[in-house]
Amino acid sequence: MTAVNGGDGNGAGPGRRPRKKAASLRPVIDSEPVREAARALVAAVREELAGRELSDDAYEKSLRRIGRQRGRPLLYPMIAGSRGKGARVFLADGTRKLDFIGGIGMYGFGHGDDDLLETAVVAAAGDVAFQGHLLPGPEYLGLTSALLKHAGPDLKHAWLSLSGAMANENALKIILQKHAPADRIVVFENAFHGRTLATAEMSDRPAFRQGLPLRGNVLQVPFYEPEREDSILHSLSVLDDHLRRYPGQIAGMCFEIVQGEGGFRTAPREFFTALMEHCRKHEIAVWVDEVQTFARTGELYAFRTFELESWVDVVTVGKILQGSAMLCTRAYNPKPGLVAGTYAGSTVGMALGQRIIERMEAEGYLGLEGRVAVLGRRIEKRFESLAKRMPKAVGPRSGIGAMQAFVPWDGSPEIAKTVLHAAFEEGLLLMNAGSEPTKIRMLPPLNTTDEELEACFTMLEKAMRRVAEECDLPC
Ligand SMILES: Cc1ncc(COP(=O)(O)O)c(C=O)c1O
Repeated sequence: MTAVNGGDGNGAGPGRRPRKKAASLRPVIDSEPVREAARALVAAVREELAGRELSDDAYEKSLRRIGRQRGRPLLYPMIAGSRGKGARVFLADGTRKLDFIGGIGMYGFGHGDDDLLETAVVAAAGDVAFQGHLLPGPEYLGLTSALLKHAGPDLKHAWLSLSGAMANENALKIILQKHAPADRIVVFENAFHGRTLATAEMSDRPAFRQGLPLRGNVLQVPFYEPEREDSILHSLSVLDDHLRRYPGQIAGMCFEIVQGEGGFRTAPREFFTALMEHCRKHEIAVWVDEVQTFARTGELYAFRTFELESWVDVVTVGKILQGSAMLCTRAYNPKPGLVAGTYAGSTVGMALGQRIIERMEAEGYLGLEGRVAVLGRRIEKRFESLAKRMPKAVGPRSGIGAMQAFVPWDGSPEIAKTVLHAAFEEGLLLMNAGSEPTKIRMLPPLNTTDEELEACFTMLEKAMRRVAEECDLPC
C-alpha cells in the first residue's frame, strides 16, 4: 500500500525532513542551539520591556481599573512589571519591591530566573501552550515522573490539574469513591484546602464560604497545641469520638504537615504518626495536602521531611510546582471517568515544574544540610536577633525551611495589617497567616541570598519601628 504522503512510510515524503527517532522524551531545553535561541529571545523581550514603565498617572489608572473590574481593590496596590531578579520585583511603574511572599508561594526561584524563563519559552514554542489528559505531551510525562520519583515507593499514580483546590477535589473524590458509602472527611481546626465548594467547606474559614450550601460532612480535630502537654492524646480522643459517633461513615483524614493559611504551625512527628496510625487502624484514608509545603520543608514533600511515607495514601501538591497534582497509591487508583477534565495544565507550567524539581535535586536544595534547610536556619537566626533588639514587638516564630512566620506584638489582625502595610511602604512584600494570633509570614525564594535576607530584615525592622512610633507600641 502506498503511504498517504507518497513517501517511504516513515513520514519522510517529498519536502519533509526525515524523522529523527529519539531514545527518550528528553526535554529539548537540553539542546545547546535551542537554549541559545531561548536565551536570545528572553534577553530581547526583557530589553524591550525595560523601557516601558507606566507613568504614575497611568499606573494609578490601571490599579483603579483592576479594582473596578474585580469589584474591590487589590490587597496591595501593585501591578507587576518586568526585569525582576531573585527576590526583587519591579512594579509596572518602575518601583522596586523585595518579594518575600512570591504570589503566596508560587515563585521557588524568585523573579527573572534565566533558566526558568528559557525553559518556559522553549516549552511554549513546541506545539501547544496547554495540554489535556487526552493528548499528553512529553512535558506531562516528565512532570508526573519527577513527582512520583520523589514520592516514595507506594505512590504510583499521578493526575495533573490546574490549581491546588482542583488537585484537592480529585483527592477528595478518589477517597470518597474508594470508601463509599462513607462520605465524611476529617480535617484539622485552622485548616485551609482551597476555595471550591467542597474545599471551602473543609477549610476552617467561615468567611470564605459565606452563603454557600454546605454538605455537612466535614469533621474537625484540633491541630497540635505546643502549650498543651496532652495535645496528642487530646487530638486522638477527638478523632476517636468522631469514629465512634459515625461508624463506617468516615472516608479519610486530611493533613497539612505545616498549616499554611492556618498560621505556619507544625507538630512533632509523633503527633502525625499517632493520628495516621489511628486512621490506618480504622481503615480510613491518609491524605496529605502539600499544596503550600511542597518544596519548602527540606525534602520535596513535607511527609518525607517528617518520615511519614509509610502511612500516606494520597498527596496533593501545587503552588511552587506551577500547576498542581494529586498522587495516590495503587489502592486508590480511581475508576475511569472520576478524574480528568479538559486541561491538565499549561505546557510551560509542566516543563517548569519538572525543571524546578530537577534543579532542587541537582543544585543541593534537598536534605538536612540542603539549601532549603540552611535557608530556614538563616531566617530563624535573623528572627532571633530581631527579637533581641525588639523583644516586645517580635513574638513567637513558627514554620520550617522556606516557610516562616512570626507574631507581631499582640497578634491582633489590626496590628498585623498595619505592619504589613508599613513593610509594603518600606519596599517589602509579606502576608498575614492564621488568626488568634495573626502572624506575618514569608514564603521567600528557595535561592534567597544573604544580601536579600539582610535587606528583608532591615526593611521589616524599619517598618516595625515606624508602627511602634505611630501606634505608640513598646519595642
Ligand atoms: C494547603 C493548601 N491547600 C490548598 C490550597 C488551594 O490552592 P489554590 O489556591 O492553588 O487552589 C492552598 C492555597 O493557599 C493551600 O495553602
